[in-house]
Amino acid sequence: MTNHVIEKAREHFGNLLRQQIARVDRMKVGEEQTNYSELKPIIIGFIGGDGIGPFIAAEARRVMEFILKDELNSGKVEFRKIEGLTIEKRAEINKAIPDNVLEEIKKCHVSLKGPTTTPRKGDPWPNIESANVAMRKELDLFANVRPVRVPNEGIDWIFFRENTEGSYALGSNGIDVTDDLAIDFTVTTTQGSERIIRLAFEYASKNKINKLTLVTKANVVKTTDGKFLKIGYEIAKEYPAIDVDDWYIDIMTAKLVDPKRRTQFRVVALPNLYGDILTDEAAEFQGGVGTAGSANIGRKYAMFEAIHGSAPRMVREGRAKYADPSSIIRAGAMLLNHIGYPDKGKKLEMALDITGQYERKYVMTGRDTGATGRDFCDYLMETVMDSDIEKKWRSYQ
Ligand code: IPM
Ligand code: MG
Repeated sequence: MTNHVIEKAREHFGNLLRQQIARVDRMKVGEEQTNYSELKPIIIGFIGGDGIGPFIAAEARRVMEFILKDELNSGKVEFRKIEGLTIEKRAEINKAIPDNVLEEIKKCHVSLKGPTTTPRKGDPWPNIESANVAMRKELDLFANVRPVRVPNEGIDWIFFRENTEGSYALGSNGIDVTDDLAIDFTVTTTQGSERIIRLAFEYASKNKINKLTLVTKANVVKTTDGKFLKIGYEIAKEYPAIDVDDWYIDIMTAKLVDPKRRTQFRVVALPNLYGDILTDEAAEFQGGVGTAGSANIGRKYAMFEAIHGSAPRMVREGRAKYADPSSIIRAGAMLLNHIGYPDKGKKLEMALDITGQYERKYVMTGRDTGATGRDFCDYLMETVMDSDIEKKWRSYQ
């Protein structure tokens, strides 16, 4: 009996290793980097997702249409609506992303995505892989970039979370070896670590930020985190102007709430799961995950998303129109930066800061005590149009 289960587990493990080695080989070749300035049109997909997703995605589209009016008219930019990435559809066919939806997504150069439900063991849905995680893998979106800024408190962080490896790489491929023994895997590769850490250093260097922090648990998780950390310090040698330190995830989590310490962090590079956890904590200082945007960047594709949940209860209770579209619109601002419209991206970010954090003429509460997403977006567009927007924004800093 024991021999049989071990043999079965060994075979499963062997298959996983083969897949991962093949993935390393693909990374070594590398995909061609998309050059947006050469594209006509740049195709932007809008993916509604589940729950409040389609409501906030529609508002985000309205704002993006407003900001990219000239580009849409001249044919430099094209918008597409991508339907069918819903939990009902995914559950029906038992797939993280339906094939035809993935095909449509791959026809777009970049996409803006609402939240998608992630089932877990015990939910009424089949235990399919998260659509986010599947999309990151399918499009090889290796960098999850998440900025958090609270100017009044001196917080100006940007997290570079590895997005395709760690405990996520084989998160749906663990083994129930026996009824009592469950094993999961965590994966770190040289290529996977190098590309995310290098991106973080390049960002710091381009933006003249001389501080970069690596976060791991390399004192315990020695092989995989040890590799990430070692590669981090090797790459650091190429950037002598950048001061590099490293923290273990437990104490890093604590130091983010230490007002004296936390303002010293600027650029942070870290493996997948630690990045997942730490960026939720970080976003809380800015007003919660609902206010944060998230960029998933690969060489070829990029996807920008709201990082909050799909809030099915708001839809059930008829409150979807009060859902806050700030997070997906912040992701839209990152999208604009990424495809070569940094001025428009900056303007939209400033307008989000003014409307959501400073001026707050319309406040969203998630119910009829506050503004609707539509009212908020009208206010946001008015603010974008204000020719004194930068002056206004600076006055609050
Ligand atoms: C995030 C989310 C996802 C993740 C979930 C929905 C799978 O928490 O984008 O941070 O864990 O990456
Ligand atoms: Mg998360």
